[in-house]
Amino acid sequence: MGIVEKFIKEGQLKQDEYPQLLKLYKDPETVELLRQEAVRIQKKYFGNKIYTRGLVEFTNYCRNDCYYCGIRRSNTNAVRYRLTKDEILKCCENGHELGFRTFVLQGGEDPWFNDERMADIISSIKRSYPDCAITLSIGEKSKESYRKFKEAGADRYLLRHETANEDHYRYLHPENLSLANRKQCLYDLKELGYQIGAGFMVGAPGQTLEHLAEDLVFLKELNPHMVGIGPFIPHHDTKFAEEEPGSVELTLFLLSVLRIMLPQVLLPATTALGTLDPRGREKGFLAGANVVMPNLSPVKNRKQYELYDNKICTGEEAAECRGCLSRRVQSVGYEIVTDRGDSPMLQP
Ligand code: SAM
Ligand code: FES
Repeated sequence: MGIVEKFIKEGQLKQDEYPQLLKLYKDPETVELLRQEAVRIQKKYFGNKIYTRGLVEFTNYCRNDCYYCGIRRSNTNAVRYRLTKDEILKCCENGHELGFRTFVLQGGEDPWFNDERMADIISSIKRSYPDCAITLSIGEKSKESYRKFKEAGADRYLLRHETANEDHYRYLHPENLSLANRKQCLYDLKELGYQIGAGFMVGAPGQTLEHLAEDLVFLKELNPHMVGIGPFIPHHDTKFAEEEPGSVELTLFLLSVLRIMLPQVLLPATTALGTLDPRGREKGFLAGANVVMPNLSPVKNRKQYELYDNKICTGEEAAECRGCLSRRVQSVGYEIVTDRGDSPMLQP
């Protein structure tokens, strides 16, 4: 049995076998075989439904200095902003009217938003919109802080592990950050009852197929409810400014691989994928993705949350984003639903 058939049959491979599979990402026959299997599984668990999450990028202040990231602390050219609680609630109000039932609060690690302020924002959103889920994506915190946010009403947490290889982690991050802590945070979040999302950038500087194999093995073991992957895109004010962006083809291939490995996982077609290819997100759905996260942030701040160059959807109102995405989703035979879109792994 070939490696492709073995993977499709068993839904996983040994770590040292993955590179053989991954290097076929440009082979049309393999791509199509995996894509069809991924779509079969996607349809089995989710039909033709695509879940949406309204993204509120509420601060671009960050105490971290991840080398790839446009809003890293040492980028003095970044124009910093913080939304007020009222502005955040206004984004949610707008989003709720448009049919969003999950809000993702994402930001840099901004100490101004201490536990008390975060808990207050979370509980205010929950009070106003008890039918909605709240996802946080605000980086590494103590288990105690995660507990407080959970008690305030947070349901889910996105924290990409970025890379499961120690050396590669070192290459992408300064000394004070560690893969061990990143992983610990994910295990803490899971233990506290969050639906968790991990993930990585495809084509991050220094990444090899062997690193990706480690990512896949780690994800299988962690068994998260969500996996966020998108291509790396250079940002002009970072030390990786001159690096090549990640490959759209490899990202799509990995979406299919992940759908087969983790059948019920929530898998976004990311903005980064749509930035590198104008039909990237549509191709993502056709490769096995089943989530989109349009922007609900105020238009005046969207360009300032600049993680990488040429980010799309920074000029449109939320309503336009929703309409545009709805059409894109329909153009490939799927439909956007008004639903919290919880992980099927939670159902008894
Ligand atoms: N501070 C939180 C954290 O670290 O998880 C959330 C915000 S952080 C900007 C969200 C994600 O953006 C990161 O996990 C990273 O994978 C992605 N990202 C950062 N820089 C990027 C780049 N240049 N290209 C593509 N994705 C990038
Ligand atoms: Fe903190 Fe990117 S370095 S969000």
